[in-house]
Amino acid sequence: MPIRILDPGLVAQIAAGEVVERPASVVKELVENALDAGASRIEVETEGGGRRRIRVADDGCGIPAAEVPLAFARHATSKLSSAEDLFRVTTLGFRGEALAAIAAVARVICRTRAPEEALGTELRIEGGKILEQRPIARPPGTEMIVEDLFFNTPARLKFLKGEGAERRQIDLWITRYALAYPHIHFILRHNGREIFSLPAAREPRHRFVALYGAELGDALLEVAEETDGIRVYGWISPPGVDRPDRQELVFFVNGRWVQDRMLPAAVLQAYHTLLPSGRYPWAFLWVELPPEQVDVNVHPAKIEVRFRDPDGIFRAVQRAVHRALRESAPVPVFQTVETSGRTPLISARPAPTRSEDLLGAPAEESSSPGLPPLRVIGQIQASYIIAEGPDGLYLLDQHAAHERVLYEALQARRQEGPLPSQPLLQPVLIDVLPEEMSLLEEHRDLLEELGFRIEPFGPRTVRLQAVPAVLSTEAILSVFQDLLFDLRESRRPVEGALEARLIRSICKRAAVKAGQVLSVEQMQHLVQALERCAMPWTCPHGRPTILRFPIGQLARQFGREE
Ligand SMILES: Nc1ncnc2c1ncn2[C@@H]1O[C@H](COP(=O)(O)OP(=O)(O)OP(=O)(O)O)[C@@H](O)[C@H]1O
Ligand SMILES: [Mg+2]
Repeated sequence: MPIRILDPGLVAQIAAGEVVERPASVVKELVENALDAGASRIEVETEGGGRRRIRVADDGCGIPAAEVPLAFARHATSKLSSAEDLFRVTTLGFRGEALAAIAAVARVICRTRAPEEALGTELRIEGGKILEQRPIARPPGTEMIVEDLFFNTPARLKFLKGEGAERRQIDLWITRYALAYPHIHFILRHNGREIFSLPAAREPRHRFVALYGAELGDALLEVAEETDGIRVYGWISPPGVDRPDRQELVFFVNGRWVQDRMLPAAVLQAYHTLLPSGRYPWAFLWVELPPEQVDVNVHPAKIEVRFRDPDGIFRAVQRAVHRALRESAPVPVFQTVETSGRTPLISARPAPTRSEDLLGAPAEESSSPGLPPLRVIGQIQASYIIAEGPDGLYLLDQHAAHERVLYEALQARRQEGPLPSQPLLQPVLIDVLPEEMSLLEEHRDLLEELGFRIEPFGPRTVRLQAVPAVLSTEAILSVFQDLLFDLRESRRPVEGALEARLIRSICKRAAVKAGQVLSVEQMQHLVQALERCAMPWTCPHGRPTILRFPIGQLARQFGREE
């Protein structure tokens, strides 16, 4: 094919692809424009996960009638005027391309009025072509309606996820911005239903509580530190309040939500051994620094930034978090657990070296599964069961073993139908994020089959009516947290896999804990149940349930001749 200059329409579509990836990108750009316009109230509405319609309305400075078509032209912005400006950006937008990009791939109606003008303007633009512009009466501010996103780029449309998934992305963005701008009234509606309306909060903490609930809000520690012109402030969770993923490590750099690798690393380093492995804190941190110290022009979607002095920022964040932890947190118990736990005395699959002979090899992964009959001797640390078998001494981790037993039992039970459910005498009300609400709705059938009955109870609250019968009442809240995590993790839901995950989480919470004293009968019962398991060697998460100390090794270690 000969080399040709692309036609302008195609060029616009290609450029739009970088900015507008999915409905949430449109919402993000429009909300950022509203924030830049100095709005005090921002209303976001979507239909069909934003694909059919997105409406963002603000009461900001509006666009003067003469400039409205220009706002939709590429490289047209009121936010930058010189090259130096680019290196000290103080607004969220600056590239002058978001509206052009959106209008290139959707049908857009813009209604706006600058307060100093008597009449407003309505502009209709479709696939980048202006169809109509007329004066209208309206209050000051701007309303953008974006319909049929990607109507002219069907290939793009195919990349979109289902309505629920797209809506969740939108929820995520709005939640972040609502958090970062607590003095602005945010309203969110999906398909005509109000998800939240958050009036201006007097204190940032109030906004946090409105979004995440009082329980977490009360638990968080305050971070506030300023060094060398870098201000780091916000909240982090104390040791002991943690979560299984990094999703709630949230950073705003000069008011912009950024996704960055270094900032979370700085936070995690500050926590160092304060968290069990595989657990992460919550952190909502604002980093403010002179605009010339940060380059925001790194990515067309403006979600990445580059720092002029990354090491300085790293240290500032780490120091701020560290101080907050040191000043307000008691010495956490699991610090010692963690450090000793990290260097296991008995490795699950040791290389057979002399020094490890002391504690011996674990029971080998058996190709003919099944355990020998074991005689229970006792319990140590209220966590491990000691048993004797025909060929040596066995140590069982009571929690891991019970998890395995429950897992196989529940899996077998699922072959026959739904898991038994147990109604709660007193239903529990739980606050959830909008995103989580959508997930719970999306997977309602599966959850019911596993024994959960969860009903919406207000826009941000659900009522837990019943839980799987294997669970004890104290485990309910933690299992619910795990459940939300599992649902979030299953963005691409493969039902089978999600179900297995959920069952694993149920087992984890239903199993006896380490530290629980067991009677000899209970231990015998557990050991026999493990003997009957098809895969008794590991818990459903892959950790060993049982270790064996061969009798020959004991003899050797005691210097006895075999
Ligand atoms: N809600 C709004 N209220 C007032 N003015 C607006 C609004 N939205 C857009 N504008 C005007 O239209 C211009 C173009 O908006 P657009 O989003 O395309 O570019 P930008 O915000 O300047 O930069 P970026 O592409 O980085 O977002 C803005 O510079 C601003 O002057
Ligand atoms: Mg913009």
